[in-house]
Amino acid sequence: MDPIRFEYGVVFLLDQRLLPVEVKYMECKSWQEVAAGIRDMVVRGAPAIGASAAFGMALAAKQWSSVDSERFFAGLEEAAKGLKATRPTAVNLAWAVERMLNVARTQRGVAPREIADILDAEARRIAQEDIAVNKKIGDFGAGLINDKARILTHCNAGALATVGYGTALGVIRRAVAHGKEVHVFADETRPYLQGARLTAWELHRDEIPVTVIADNMAGFLMKQGKIDVVIVGADRIAANGDVANKIGTYSVAVLAAAHNIPFYVAAPYSTFDLAIKSGEQIPIEERCETEITHFAGRRIAPEGIGCYNPSFDVTPANLITAIITEFGVIEKPDEERVRQFFAEAGHE
Ligand code: MRU
Repeated sequence: MDPIRFEYGVVFLLDQRLLPVEVKYMECKSWQEVAAGIRDMVVRGAPAIGASAAFGMALAAKQWSSVDSERFFAGLEEAAKGLKATRPTAVNLAWAVERMLNVARTQRGVAPREIADILDAEARRIAQEDIAVNKKIGDFGAGLINDKARILTHCNAGALATVGYGTALGVIRRAVAHGKEVHVFADETRPYLQGARLTAWELHRDEIPVTVIADNMAGFLMKQGKIDVVIVGADRIAANGDVANKIGTYSVAVLAAAHNIPFYVAAPYSTFDLAIKSGEQIPIEERCETEITHFAGRRIAPEGIGCYNPSFDVTPANLITAIITEFGVIEKPDEERVRQFFAEAGHE
């Protein structure tokens, strides 16, 4: 099931708000429609919103391809700003938009129509690279998963959160492909239920055994000796290895440390923000309070109460056993290790 499909001039976003009940795509012919799709959670997950934004930029280029060069570039800048403003935490979004803008800038003087074609090809490249990168992450991560492992994951870092295959779930898929038997415990992931709705759905479709638990059960399962390893994705990783991911990830990391359970993060280079020193500087999105006060469209909390809904939290690097990337594994991440690792990989 592809979360993003594309044809020249049209992007189809699998409407993840409807899953697992209904499989329906939202058709986008303008960057504004893609931006609305990202903002409203039609598409979600750091790499998936990055790739969607890249296609949004390609659509913007097509929208303005018949104007003069100056207006064309002004239009691209406007789309870049609008797309980047949709969701603040996952850095893949800004990464993909900047990559598209940089490609366009190198073509100044070329006819806008031609630049639009070049940007269409670049967006497709970003999408294809994402799948290849996830498979490499899977290859490096699979070695860390033992046969018969009972794995806890949080949120959805699967095919649905990427262009395909997944990061954390990509590691699990690769371990299974290598013949390992695993059992996945998926935190339901309040309040948006990415675990219960999306992770459970895609693992079940792949016939990977999965059990959904409410978030507040993870500690008890660990205490009972029912979890061998935790693996999650990431939305932004600071230079010192601090990881922003779905709200609740930090609690799981603390629990894993208390029970001596390895805690792995699987994420591509595009999720690293080496311009910021620590997780303190990562902007945390706050989403609307109805995600908490309402359930399935019905109010479940009294009227007039306070409500706070941060969508992400930051897990400090010292709680992370290792970060699995497409270039290899960063064990016990800290600023020195992270910077040295990417310098050796040729990315500074
Ligand atoms: O709010 P969401 O659903 O976009 O949050 C997604 C997550 O937090 C994922 O764990 C993260 O983006 C990694 S996806 C490979």
